Amino acid sequence: MTATKGLEGIVAATSSISSIVDGVLTYRGYDINDLALHASFEEVAYLLWFGKLPNVQELYDLKQDLDTFAPIPQTLIEQMKLYPKDTNTMAALRTAISALALYDEEADDMNRTINEKKAIKLQAQLPTIVAALSRIRQGKEPVQPQKGLSIAENFLFMLRGEQPDETSIKALDQALVLHADHEFNASTFAGRVTVATLSDIYSGVTSAIGALKGPLHGGANEAVMRMLEKIGGIDQVESYIQDKLNKREIIMGFGHRVYKNGDPRAKYLQTMSRELSEMKGNSDLYEMSVKIEEMVTGQKGLKPNVDFYSASVYTQLGIESELFTPIFAISRVSGWTAHILEQWESNRIIRPRAEYIGLHDQKYISIELR
Ligand code: ACO
Repeated sequence: MTATKGLEGIVAATSSISSIVDGVLTYRGYDINDLALHASFEEVAYLLWFGKLPNVQELYDLKQDLDTFAPIPQTLIEQMKLYPKDTNTMAALRTAISALALYDEEADDMNRTINEKKAIKLQAQLPTIVAALSRIRQGKEPVQPQKGLSIAENFLFMLRGEQPDETSIKALDQALVLHADHEFNASTFAGRVTVATLSDIYSGVTSAIGALKGPLHGGANEAVMRMLEKIGGIDQVESYIQDKLNKREIIMGFGHRVYKNGDPRAKYLQTMSRELSEMKGNSDLYEMSVKIEEMVTGQKGLKPNVDFYSASVYTQLGIESELFTPIFAISRVSGWTAHILEQWESNRIIRPRAEYIGLHDQKYISIELR
């Protein structure tokens, strides 16, 4: 038995949800380029869960369900107010989603239809929880979700307590489409491993959130923003990045295991970042990002991934960096839950082996002789 570090190149299961072949990402056979330009996030979530794009009635029914499920238990809000104010938002989200299971009487019901309902519930409630966490940490009361709004619009509304502008809604909706699923990425795989023991959907999503939090995965978008803040301005980019390159340090938002010639999602976020900077009349962040890209791609051949330009996009939408990775989770919960449902369709516990490299033939020595 020989181990493969990071399971690179290992095909762990079959899946019909999303695929990455020769750098082309598809959801259920639809090219991400097509979906990014034409589909709403709600259509994409339906596609991931049910394997086809919804018709008018099916989309209407899904939106009704999302509206019904979006409010969260008041007890959960009271609990969230007790979390330390300066805690990591992904840690708070992980805790809140774990707690959410306690208020769902059907949490452990393994019936397929009930689990589909829980997938929609989680999709509806995650934005409400993230918005509430943001407001609570600012000492404000959470804003109740409104009926009849898209997930993107409702989230921005709950965050700011006022109607968001069309540009922000459109940009966030497209970002949600781009982040919705990504084959056997670390968080999705973590979720699948958890539910393959026949544990419940909330446990699967809680595991997935824990994995997404890390800076080598979803946490990279927040780390990119911290880097941009640290650099401070366009004039400091060259010395800062050159120093990191010389020291062979990791530069957040670059590289990907499955894309060596560039992440197909990154170009949309770059375009969005440029357009927002033109609209706002301040291109500092965008120009800094472009200069970083020129240096990192030029010297290391590493291309930006989905997280690199999303940092400047969200900042230009007036969203604080602590919410970047939770926003990723708002989108990816659609993919996580689709994968969880798929895992159960032909389940087998996931239990790989390890190549043992430790000591052999050790003999027990009583404690007083050690
Ligand atoms: N900065 C500097 N060097 C890098 C970077 C980077 N961002 N990414 C890869 N490299 C280096 C590796 O250290 C490795 O060097 P080596 O051969 O001297 O050891 C080489 O490039 C090849 O690396 P890969 O095998 O392609 O990387 P791996 O698959 O192990 O890791 C990962 C992928 C974690 C995404 C890595 O590229 C990274 O750390 N990037 C920065 C964090 C990041 O942006 N994460 C978000 C990814 S997208 C997502 O999860 C949503």
